[in-house]
Amino acid sequence: MTVDGAGNIRARLEGSDPNAPAVLSGSHIDTVLHGGKYDGAVGTLGAVEAVQSILESGLPRRCPIEVAVFAEEEGSNFGSTLSGSKALVGKYTLADMEKLSNPEGKSMAGLLREGGYAPETMADNLLRPEKIRAMMELHIEQSVVLESRGVPVGIVEAVAGIRVLEIRIKGVPNHAGATPMTLRQDPLAAAARLMGTIEDLAKGSETGSTVGTVGKISCHPNVSNIIPGEVTFTVDIRDVQEAGIEFVAAGIKKEAAALAVSRDVSIDVVHISESAPVRLDGHIAGVTEKCAGRRNFSSMRMNSGAVHDACMFAPLVPTGMIFIPSKGGRSHVPEEFTDPGDIEKGVSLLADVLYELSK
Ligand code: HGY
Ligand code: MN
Ligand code: MN
Repeated sequence: MTVDGAGNIRARLEGSDPNAPAVLSGSHIDTVLHGGKYDGAVGTLGAVEAVQSILESGLPRRCPIEVAVFAEEEGSNFGSTLSGSKALVGKYTLADMEKLSNPEGKSMAGLLREGGYAPETMADNLLRPEKIRAMMELHIEQSVVLESRGVPVGIVEAVAGIRVLEIRIKGVPNHAGATPMTLRQDPLAAAARLMGTIEDLAKGSETGSTVGTVGKISCHPNVSNIIPGEVTFTVDIRDVQEAGIEFVAAGIKKEAAALAVSRDVSIDVVHISESAPVRLDGHIAGVTEKCAGRRNFSSMRMNSGAVHDACMFAPLVPTGMIFIPSKGGRSHVPEEFTDPGDIEKGVSLLADVLYELSK
């Protein structure tokens, strides 16, 4: 088992040919604040269980199989999703990990060192695509499609891209009672207008699959009888088509510039992180569909609105994802739940696919 400089863990089960490229499967074990128990954990523990069952079957295999745990997938510490897998594929350099910081101002690289990791070694330990036959990730769907159709297995064809912006608005703090409405430079009133525009832009995008979310906001000094001085909020924009993301981001910049003038405030639109939409491997989707059919699991092709570590591998090696239903379509909440029977189906199918790919 290895632990790399970004905190990613990889364990390897050899096959008959140690030089053959490995089949890799895994996910993440970190979660969002106030999240659930299944997002990431299902794909990580599921990969361990799948490999265990392949081992117990005693069936011959040519390729090694690797189980991976990717660090900092949710971005809960530094605001950027997929940081561990980005570091593994070289999308995040040491400089990026020095720049990414948490609310206390500590960098990702600094916290890794405090934890005994060596982020500076990542450059010499990047993923070598020629050594990977395929990457497979089992994950909860995190939406309502599978449950509403009564289908136990989703075969993912495309995963949405994501762009995270931070909007920083500065105005003039003043007395909430004594300041006439005509003399205000109120950043929170400007933020409210801009947030409404974000919702309209996402709904109005021609792709029909764009989403925009304002999930985090801070207001200073945050006192009921003071007109705020500063407001900062995040915008999480996603779509399986880059054009949808671009449309909303461009619209935000345009509206921010207009509001800065009309409300006499300063508005900075800061780029925090992004990952492009990816298409997953058609051959692996076919293998997954065939294996599901052999077990009489009904399955359907679908896209993912959530991003996943698999997105980092898709441009480099054949990559596939298996979804299993989320109860009520809820995720990133304590109510997140997936029926154990569905988890068992997902893990058995993952084992079949990993075995097929490792032959
Ligand atoms: O935000 C996401 O899509 C993922 O859960 N990190
Ligand atoms: Mn998540
Ligand atoms: Mn996840």
